[in-house]
Amino acid sequence: MVTPSNPTGTVLPADQVESLYELARQNNVALILDETYNAFLPPQQLPHHLFSKDAWGETFIHIGSFGKTFALTGYRAGALVASRKLIHHALKVQDSMVVCQPRITQHAIAYGCRELSDWVDQNSVWVKHPWPTLTGRQAARKLADEANLICLPGEVFGPGLEGYLRLAFGNVSQHEIPQAVERFLVY
Ligand SMILES: Cc1ncc(COP(=O)(O)O)c(C=O)c1O
Repeated sequence: MVTPSNPTGTVLPADQVESLYELARQNNVALILDETYNAFLPPQQLPHHLFSKDAWGETFIHIGSFGKTFALTGYRAGALVASRKLIHHALKVQDSMVVCQPRITQHAIAYGCRELSDWVDQNSVWVKHPWPTLTGRQAARKLADEANLICLPGEVFGPGLEGYLRLAFGNVSQHEIPQAVERFLVY
């Protein structure tokens, strides 16, 4: 399971993750959660409590990527959190494919994990819109109709995000970015 999902943005509620874990445990299969986008959940919102279970390693495998968290996409720096036994087997696969991350990337990630929590909070891709009475959908529609700007309503990524928009600039060429920002500011 990918949660928060790419590309839909759907976030599985913690109780559903718990149910999936129970289903997997009872049927003796692994629950693999790809939580690459977990840094973009609202602050303080824990995605689940699976790590607090005594025998989580028998069932649960967590995948994360620092690429999104620290805006290091393309460096392919991620994490697998699993039982010692599973990591032992995963290492055999890794060793025959990539051996390990370049050392400099490992240092960058270690620095990020130690020092950059505030930076991550400040630079997550959420923007609070200025219309308290509008949902994210209404705000996004307004920006599209009136300012020719397209962005995503926060609530498509989960409950409690109606006051936010998500912006992407992956398809905007560099010289157009100042103009897009200017249009936001003017609007
Ligand atoms: C759901 C999901 N998992 C993993 C990845 C891999 O991320 P990265 O290559 O930045 O580590 C991506 C990248 O887009 C993704 O969308």
